[in-house]
Amino acid sequence: MKNKSLISINDFTKEEYFRVLDLAEEFQKNPNQQLLSDYVIASLFFEPSTRTRLSFETAIQRLGGKVIGFSEASSSSVSKGESLKDTILTVSRYADLIIMRHSIEGSARYASEVSNKPIINAGDGSNQHPTQCLLDLYSIRKSQGTLENLNLFLVGDLKYGRTVHSLLMAMSEFNPVFNFVSPPTLRMPQEYKDYLDEKGIKYYEHHQLDDNLKHADIVYMTRVQRERFSDPMEYEKVKNAYVLNNKMLDNTKENLRIMHPLPRVNEIDTDVDTNPKAYYFEQAENGVYARMALMCLILGVVK
Ligand code: CP
Repeated sequence: MKNKSLISINDFTKEEYFRVLDLAEEFQKNPNQQLLSDYVIASLFFEPSTRTRLSFETAIQRLGGKVIGFSEASSSSVSKGESLKDTILTVSRYADLIIMRHSIEGSARYASEVSNKPIINAGDGSNQHPTQCLLDLYSIRKSQGTLENLNLFLVGDLKYGRTVHSLLMAMSEFNPVFNFVSPPTLRMPQEYKDYLDEKGIKYYEHHQLDDNLKHADIVYMTRVQRERFSDPMEYEKVKNAYVLNNKMLDNTKENLRIMHPLPRVNEIDTDVDTNPKAYYFEQAENGVYARMALMCLILGVVK
């Protein structure tokens, strides 16, 4: 994995997922180590972020590395008209590794083609969010004890939600059953369903949330991605399509965990937060350990 960019979750093999997850487990036990003290890491966020940016930066700080970067495009020379290519060519002369979030699908792949330093995709438009996927895999394995043979409900904006696209691809290595719950206008795109068909993975599509939850091992709620809608009226029609509350968790399996990549808007009632099945804040914490592991493997400080 040394010097390898991570643009799509499919850039890594199943063995490489396990390497990241096993190392993340080690970092969770012992997070303060000076493994990155010789490294400068660039954190280029052209789109807003709380968890991804701050968990990467926490991971770097705890491992003794240095961070450069920006948290919005307006504070970079992109606001003066500089191209993405020139930005990456410049930053790759400063930093050993570049973490990048951008609104344009394919921008991270493009950056990896022009950069002589590895790129980690921290989210490119509606396309992929592979590091979220690694922390999701870590969270699922930690909470379920396995990644195999699970019944997963992906709920909400399955069209624009990049986290569910990455998760679908990764979990399809582990013989899951998928249940997609979305409004008709926000269904899982056909290309991802074709992907599952090719792998022989079962999936079911629903428009109601509460009917089938008693079979779920993981319910993965997602926000309707307002920023991806060209018509605000279309957003208004679907923004509160699913709101999970505590009552809906009655008669669900003991091992069920509620996940959400966050930020939450209205998708999960705050009465769920104290339910032992709520896992989303622990999931966010897991991002620090998964990202520590990923950076150490890419920089080659851990084999
Ligand atoms: N999960 C996630 O990507 O959150 P942020 O947008 O806050 O980084």
